[in-house]
Amino acid sequence: MRKKIFVLLLVVSSIIPNLPVSPLTKGGIKEWLKVERGGIIGIALAQQAGEKKESVCVKCHSQLGGKFAEPVKLWNESIHKEMGNNCDGCHGGDPTDPARAMIKESGFLGKPKITEIPNFCGKCHVGVKENYLKSAHGMIAAKTGAPNCTTCHNSHDVKKASLDLINEKSCTRCHTYEKPQKIKQALAGSEAEIARLAAQIKDAKGSSIDTRRLEEKLFAARNAIHQTTHVLSVEKINAMKAATDKELKEVDASLKIIEKEIAKRKRIAIGVMIFCFAAAGVILLYRKTFLKPESWFKV
Ligand code: HEC
Ligand code: HEC
Ligand code: HEC
Ligand code: HEC
Ligand code: HEC
Repeated sequence: MRKKIFVLLLVVSSIIPNLPVSPLTKGGIKEWLKVERGGIIGIALAQQAGEKKESVCVKCHSQLGGKFAEPVKLWNESIHKEMGNNCDGCHGGDPTDPARAMIKESGFLGKPKITEIPNFCGKCHVGVKENYLKSAHGMIAAKTGAPNCTTCHNSHDVKKASLDLINEKSCTRCHTYEKPQKIKQALAGSEAEIARLAAQIKDAKGSSIDTRRLEEKLFAARNAIHQTTHVLSVEKINAMKAATDKELKEVDASLKIIEKEIAKRKRIAIGVMIFCFAAAGVILLYRKTFLKPESWFKV
């Protein structure tokens, strides 16, 4: 009996750090369970996506060799492959039927002309396209075709975007590095702060705290900042920065409160553990002192 109580106390003490904190998670346990369930559904969806049939585009083009197989090799390493944007997402066509794969009736677009590329990519990246078309780059590219989306991101080995894309080698192909550098400096400060806050949110999540509201806020601030890159105007970027910096300060303040809460919970958990061990010690001592050894475990 006492042994069972001891085990129960141990289990309770180890659960405490994983309980949601009611003032921070408005819905308490209910919300917590929802998050857990959401996780399970997410995994199920990912598994479903993984079972999708291999596209005939990938299959046939891999076998073609030369310049027609090259896109497959490059795309295999891209964020598009990772996120499920396949050949037909960009080029159209029917990825399930080799006979219908590359005909007009299946919506096959073929290889885009250089001046068509902003619309080609922009059918999914709508916000980026809008900003780009208004920029000095978009206006000149409408006539000459460059710089277009693929000038900076490539066509097939498209990688996760970051400020590293703004570098002397890439940007001085056509002009000096003076303006690009100013833009990069304006954005770099916010970028570092966003990364720091994202890491803190991840830590809080590890302690099972509901951080969705903060995540949403950070995500919105991050998007607002990244959206300004294609505008290419230092003034507009600075105006946007002022607005998002305010949001980031609020996220930071909330995280400080959460940090304190985690520390408090850890102290409580340690207290309970110490109590359990002390209780177990007392029980053992009691038995050793007052009971005969053969009756120790006949509880
Ligand atoms: C059975 C083999 C086969 C399949 C399936 C196939 N392709 Fe092709 N594809 C080719 C060959 C061969 C060429 C080169 C000759 C040509 O343009 O017809 C080509 C050319 C292309 C081109 C370049 C066209 C141009 O104008 O230069 C693109 C883009 C392309 N394919 C995309 C796709 C996409 C997207 C799919 C799937 C929806 C697909 N292909 C399915 C064999 C195939
Ligand atoms: C993110 C959009 C995107 C995706 C996804 C994509 N392509 Fe392309 N592809 C382009 C663009 C843009 C061009 C034209 C510029 C160029 O040739 O790089 C192109 C050109 C091509 C060409 C013509 C190459 C040449 O040298 O004439 C072929 C063939 C092709 N793609 C096949 C594929 C196949 C096969 C896949 C899937 C493995 C694929 N593409 C996925 C954007 C894409
Ligand atoms: C069919 C829709 C579709 C088309 C067309 C498309 N993309 Fe994407 N792209 C996606 C998706 C989905 C993602 C992954 C989610 C995200 O990051 O937005 C993505 C991600 C990206 C990223 C990384 C974004 C990041 O978060 O860092 C870049 C850069 C990008 N695409 C550039 C291009 C370029 C350049 C083209 C044209 C050559 C193109 N895309 C065409 C759907 C598309
Ligand atoms: C002059 C180079 C350049 C051109 C041209 C360009 N981009 Fe970008 N793009 C960048 C840079 C740099 C970033 C990274 C921005 C950042 O991290 O703030 C980026 C980021 C992105 C992202 C990620 C945005 C996000 O929210 O993280 C996408 C998607 C994207 N570009 C798509 C496109 C598309 C589509 C086009 C054409 C309509 C295009 N880009 C044209 C340089 C370029
Ligand atoms: C293919 C050529 C080309 C490349 C590559 C290129 N640019 Fe440009 N860029 C231009 C042209 C053309 C203009 C307009 C004329 C000028 O200001 O020189 C321009 C103008 C600009 C401007 C001034 C905008 C304004 O309104 O004053 C900025 C900022 C800029 N580019 C940033 C970049 C960055 C950042 C990169 C690298 C990621 C880059 N560019 C790469 C061609 C290019």
